[in-house]
Amino acid sequence: MENIKRTEIVDLLKRTDYGQTVNVKGWVRTRRGNKNVSFIALNDGSTINNVQIVVDIEKFGEEYLKPITTGASLSVNGKLVESMGKGQSVEIQAEEILVYGTADPEKYPLQKKGHTMEYLREIAHLRPRTNTFGAIFRIRHNMAIAIHTYFHEHGYFYFHTPLITGSDCEGAGQMFQVTTKNLYNLKKNDDGKIDYSDDFFGKSVSLTVSGQLEGELAATSLGKIYTFGPTFRAENSNTPRHLAEFWMIEPEIAFYEIEDNMALAQDFIQYCVRWALEKCTDDIQFLCNMFDKELIERLNFVVNNDFKRLTYTEGVEILKEAVKNGHKFEFPVDWGTDLQSEHERYLVEEHFKRPVILTDYPKEIKSFYMKQNDDGKTVRAMDVLFPKIGEIIGGSQREEDYEKLARRAKEMGVPDKDIWWYLDTRRFGTVPHSGFGLGFERLMLFVTGMQNIRDVIPFPRTPNNCEF
Ligand code: 4AD
Ligand code: MG
Repeated sequence: MENIKRTEIVDLLKRTDYGQTVNVKGWVRTRRGNKNVSFIALNDGSTINNVQIVVDIEKFGEEYLKPITTGASLSVNGKLVESMGKGQSVEIQAEEILVYGTADPEKYPLQKKGHTMEYLREIAHLRPRTNTFGAIFRIRHNMAIAIHTYFHEHGYFYFHTPLITGSDCEGAGQMFQVTTKNLYNLKKNDDGKIDYSDDFFGKSVSLTVSGQLEGELAATSLGKIYTFGPTFRAENSNTPRHLAEFWMIEPEIAFYEIEDNMALAQDFIQYCVRWALEKCTDDIQFLCNMFDKELIERLNFVVNNDFKRLTYTEGVEILKEAVKNGHKFEFPVDWGTDLQSEHERYLVEEHFKRPVILTDYPKEIKSFYMKQNDDGKTVRAMDVLFPKIGEIIGGSQREEDYEKLARRAKEMGVPDKDIWWYLDTRRFGTVPHSGFGLGFERLMLFVTGMQNIRDVIPFPRTPNNCEF
């Protein structure tokens, strides 16, 4: 086969230099035709669009073309010609075809017919070859680039916080332990507790639930930082919005108060969504056509409208009013309890009909590090609530007063020995500061319109599921 430099399909489809001999490589999506001519739809992952390869059967022979079935991988040399078919600008008249690998039609799990999302999760190793997952993972890449670009352009430093940690940032006790100890032969203390002194780190450690505490160390020295990495939570909640391993973006900014934090959250999300609309047009249009006709409208709405800001207390009043007027929630609404996803979505989708930022939550349902309000009951927390998703961001202004912070940590059972280094930031040159965490997959749910968080991460980790 003649050696011609490969063109990726995304670039090939833009070319107009008809008559040139080109090379493309990729996987067969479909092959159809009649006894004289065969049409191969080839995709190489660079775009949702396929290139059509036109094959003169007499030229190659029936036998030679037999292994070219859905899923087979090919290298094709041929002439670039203007396409007569609608919906495509160019096609290739095949001159030489090399089959790299066949895909037995009896066994290859991705035949033409539409598969359910549940089935595709079982073959997560092959699902990136479908149009849907190709689109989702190209969008995922673009969102990661949007996030880095936003922060870089705004003068933030990308700071790498550890994944293995001895402290529980959220204090929710949902950590995965990390150990090299022999679990079949655990040494116990006299009081029956496990002795970690001979474990790898000489103490009990876990996978991080958040990079925030270390992020605060960086913000109170570099000024503005963000983290973007995997986080782990052993919460046994089998919902369409929870993963045991997810990616989180956590900006942390010195001298920021809660209002600055809210403005940042809105500007940042709008930037990312605008990026998706501008740079992932084909993929988002595809998802819109196939799954969710209102997707693009919803994305545009979020880009063009301010998020509604109100306090938790005001939110609870609205929800109670709704109950009084006959609205049925599964869970009760009471000042002091955490809002359920149904409550959050009511505020966003039915009451305000726009994203909502709720602030000043009861201190009992929030973490120890949040700035305490003068009322003694609430803290300067903020949750950003989104249509279809509920909570997409959780953040706060941080308590900068050493005494108040240390007292609250003690009250909430966070041991001094785990966070002495964190408390030091308040002992030496403390400053007001704020930050938040955006769940990357929650953003992906919003941008793609997918229903289940398992479908916006390549290999989801959830209770009882760690395949691939
Ligand atoms: O609200 P969370 O727990 O806040 C924190 O971890 C803070 N330390 C963040 C900060 O202030 N720097 O989590 C932040 C976000 C949530 O709003 C949600 O989008 C996402 O992380 N999240 C999850 N996403 C997927 N699966 C889970 N199990 C998640 N738990 C939280
Ligand atoms: Mg939260």
